[in-house]
Amino acid sequence: MDKSISGFSKLSKLDKIQWLVDTFLGGDGTVLPELEKYWIDDVDQQRILDGFSENTITNYPMPFGVAPNFIIDGEQYCIPMVIEESSVVAAASAAAKFWLSRGGFKTQILGTKKIGQVHLKWSGNSKKLFGAFDDLKTKLIDDTKDITCRMEKRGGGILGFELIDFTEKEADLYQLRVYFETCDSMGANFINSCLEAFARSIELWCLQYEGFSEKERDVLIVMSILSNYTPECLVRAEVSCPVSELGDFTGGITSEVFAEKFRTAVKIAEIDPYRATTHNKGIYNGIDAVVIATGNDFRAIEACGHTYASKNGQYASLSHCTVNDGIFRFWIDLPLAVGTVGGLTSLHPISKISLRLLGDPTAQTLMKVIAVAGLAQNFGALRSLVTTGIQQGHMKMHLLNILNHLGADEAQIATAVSHFDDKVVSFSAVREYLEAK
Ligand code: MEV
Repeated sequence: MDKSISGFSKLSKLDKIQWLVDTFLGGDGTVLPELEKYWIDDVDQQRILDGFSENTITNYPMPFGVAPNFIIDGEQYCIPMVIEESSVVAAASAAAKFWLSRGGFKTQILGTKKIGQVHLKWSGNSKKLFGAFDDLKTKLIDDTKDITCRMEKRGGGILGFELIDFTEKEADLYQLRVYFETCDSMGANFINSCLEAFARSIELWCLQYEGFSEKERDVLIVMSILSNYTPECLVRAEVSCPVSELGDFTGGITSEVFAEKFRTAVKIAEIDPYRATTHNKGIYNGIDAVVIATGNDFRAIEACGHTYASKNGQYASLSHCTVNDGIFRFWIDLPLAVGTVGGLTSLHPISKISLRLLGDPTAQTLMKVIAVAGLAQNFGALRSLVTTGIQQGHMKMHLLNILNHLGADEAQIATAVSHFDDKVVSFSAVREYLEAK
């Protein structure tokens, strides 16, 4: 049977589902009611959600949780998190509570610069091109005034231009790299609009520039697009306290031993990419959850962070730890290009609530909160790893998933949760427990 279709996007939602059921789901009559359950009654709201993507047939629910008790630069926060993995929100909350009585988290914005690129091919005398670059820059600024004026009123705009010669790696290849300040917006649309205007200006400028030969009037614009690598849109989050104030840990681990094990755990992630990947994955458990909750683009944030983690030539830990002169210090420098206006931030009903929960923050404040969530997550994971091991806490949280999977009712769930309070949770142990009841 041919399972292809044309005109799918034009079908109604019901017809789309019917076609899927008939073509891929063996005519299963339970699928439509199941998918329908997740449509929301508010038709206007549903239309907004459908507008985010294409060919939508329903909504995909994810848990929206909050991690309270964060102190960031002396202010109290309750951080919204959207994540499907057990124990992430619990670990963030536990880390927040731990640092609550130890001075909380401190942050610092190290930069807010965004980057865009026009990639072009031009064959001519490169010295002439670089010599003419000031003239081009003036034209680029003039030609985009209608796009940049509103951003300039908000305090942003174009920060600078750079012409980069890649001809040693690819014949005739140059790049116009442009630096932007986009204030409280993530800025992708603004940057891409500017870049496409620059590309048109470059073509015209080459045609008209007096010093160019006939051949040099020709330029091939390959593409124009922002770079998601923003190493200078950077925030630092950190915690620190005297080692003696870390307290004692499960299993009789003293604060000194904990600090040394913790520091070594971070060092391992600085040395070994295999560990660094898992270590940073844990950091992004926290980051992505807040990024999604606030309507930002987690793919962009992750791509950027992983490139940054490789900036010294080898993929490494994003967080760092020192224990010097009796002081435990743990910090992260994180590139984060996020927005609190535009995009989904004000369209998605829940991201609006997330932002309100955070006091309708500026983009810089949101950068700080997200970096703190990443550091807290990392602290929580490493604290478990170097003390009890990860499974104890993780499986406790996962217990509910196992019970639901095995079809336990509310009463069974309640007794199972108290039964496993002091026992090791595993799928088979939970199944045996339910069978014996
Ligand atoms: C699991 O989602 C994340 C951890 O593996 C992170 C880590 O190992 O640091 C627990």
